[in-house]
Amino acid sequence: MRSVLFVGAGRHQRRAIERARALGLRVVAVDRSADAPGLAAADAAETVDFRDVDAVTEAGRRHGVDGVLTVSADRAVPVVAAVAEALGLPGIGTETAHAMTHKIAMRRQFADAGVSQPRFAAVRSIAEGHHALERVGLPAVLKPADSGGQRGVFLLESVDDLDAHLHAALAESAGGETIVESFHDGLELNGLVLARAGDVISLTLSDRLRPPGIGFGVGWTHVYPASIYGDTLAEAERVAVAAVRALGLTNGIAFPQLLVGDDGSVRVVEVAARIPGGQMADLARHAIGIDLVEVALRQALGVEVPDDLAYPRFSQPLAIRFLTASPGPLPAGVVRSWSGLERVLAFPGVVQADVFLTAGETIRPVRLDGDRRGYVIAIAPTNVEALERAEAAARLLDVDVSVAAAAPA
Ligand SMILES: Nc1ncnc2c1ncn2[C@@H]1O[C@H](COP(=O)(O)OP(=O)(O)O)[C@@H](O)[C@H]1O
Ligand SMILES: [Mg+2]
Repeated sequence: MRSVLFVGAGRHQRRAIERARALGLRVVAVDRSADAPGLAAADAAETVDFRDVDAVTEAGRRHGVDGVLTVSADRAVPVVAAVAEALGLPGIGTETAHAMTHKIAMRRQFADAGVSQPRFAAVRSIAEGHHALERVGLPAVLKPADSGGQRGVFLLESVDDLDAHLHAALAESAGGETIVESFHDGLELNGLVLARAGDVISLTLSDRLRPPGIGFGVGWTHVYPASIYGDTLAEAERVAVAAVRALGLTNGIAFPQLLVGDDGSVRVVEVAARIPGGQMADLARHAIGIDLVEVALRQALGVEVPDDLAYPRFSQPLAIRFLTASPGPLPAGVVRSWSGLERVLAFPGVVQADVFLTAGETIRPVRLDGDRRGYVIAIAPTNVEALERAEAAARLLDVDVSVAAAAPA
């Protein structure tokens, strides 16, 4: 029986681990937390901090694995690439893994390849930051060079904003480095792209709607298909594919994020080298009938991905509404109890829904990806109706909170 090593075994990985076992694979999983939910689902589990590449490599060697992968965990991407290289297994290569997880390295590669993107500068200090803002202009976005999940991401409307937030952004960066880039208003799109034996296929583009205010970078609704048409759609697909090519990915699933201006211009925010978190794998399954986990497993094992697994089988409009605090459907405050998931699931068009709330936790205004405390996925004949259904269904959840949390300053 073939075996695969999962690097990271959190909630998002658990379903993928179960899927791998259902496909007849033996799963070895590592996570630094002994009670990570994915570990219990694996055939063999080890408590290993995946920042320790040698220890992960050793675990893989000991179990004689035939492949190594991660799902959703961006920080594990360079580790997976390094372990694959050390064990002589299929992988995306450490250079590509670096370019696809380090925002400055990525932007430099885009610049060399002529891929359309924001103006940017690397920043390690206040002095560099001021210099960067002169080049990049305002408004701007400040973010850690090597983090994710909206951690340490700030919108800068003045030089004072840089002074106020640089420290927090640097604190989220393992390498002590941030990037400052020009802010571009407009529609944000998520892409799913498959690189297969050097051939790069655009699978989906979907709208990624975001809340106003401090959580401006959090995707709180996904709508498929994207709401762009004609030349703009063609341009977005072209840019998504060009960005993946520029980073040197020849075998793997890529997750480009794009910004589309009112003038139809398309710029790349970033491209991740993994199955995205945030229910994007569910989007692929329900919207186009592609099982990204099976594709990723095959690529990790170096097995061919046949056309019938790689190409969309249908195109089903859908919407994913995340459960977030106001103006999302959840009340802010300390959770006493919640109920009604079965009502949500029974709502017309709803194909999947889940709630991650636990009693005693505080629902805060949306600031990070982690503030999404569940989701509803609905299908419909059109994307507009799917969104209406997902929103109506999300309101059927009953959440009882004890104290209304104060709004952030
Ligand atoms: N230059 C930019 N212009 C406008 N919005 C941006 C820009 N950079 C980032 N954002 C917003 O912030 C989000 C997070 O930025 P991103 O670079 O993807 O960081 P992370 O690694 O945390 O996902 C993006 O998805 C987008 O909504
Ligand atoms: Mg991102």
